[in-house]
Amino acid sequence: MNFDLLIDAAKQARASAYAPYSKFAVGAALLTKSGRIITGCNVENLSFGLTICAERAAVFTAIAGGEKEFEAIAVVADSVSPVTPCGACRQVLSEFASELPICSANLDDVRFVSTIQELLPRAKEGILGT
Ligand code: THU
Repeated sequence: MNFDLLIDAAKQARASAYAPYSKFAVGAALLTKSGRIITGCNVENLSFGLTICAERAAVFTAIAGGEKEFEAIAVVADSVSPVTPCGACRQVLSEFASELPICSANLDDVRFVSTIQELLPRAKEGILGT
C-alpha cells in the first residue's frame, strides 16, 4: 500500500497540534473504507492526563463524521525513530479494526509499517464472551 497521501495529510494535521507542554507535535491521518481521509492532532492540557493523542483525535473525528471502517492510518512526528501509537490508542484502534495497517513516519520520511494486530495482539480475547 502507498502511504504517501496519508503521510502528507498527517503532516498537515501535525501543524495544528496543540502541544505547549511536551513540544512534541503529532499528526495522524485515517483512510476510511469509503475513501475519505480524516485527520487528528494531539491536544494537550495543563492537567496532563487530559491530553488526547493524534490517533484517538482522528478516530473520534471519524466516528463523529459517520465513518467506522478504516483501511489504514499514518502517524507523523519529529522523532528519531517513527512513533507508533501508545497503548490507549492501540486499544481504541482495535475497537474499530481487527486488521489495520499503520504507517509511522518521521520528518525525514523514515517509515515503520506495522499492523494493529502486531502492536496489540489478542486485543479482544475473552472479553464479553469473545
Ligand atoms: N502523542 C501522540 O499524539 N501520539 C503518539 O503516538 C505518541 C504520543 C502525543 C501525546 C503528547 O501530547 C505528546 O505526544 C508527548 O507524548
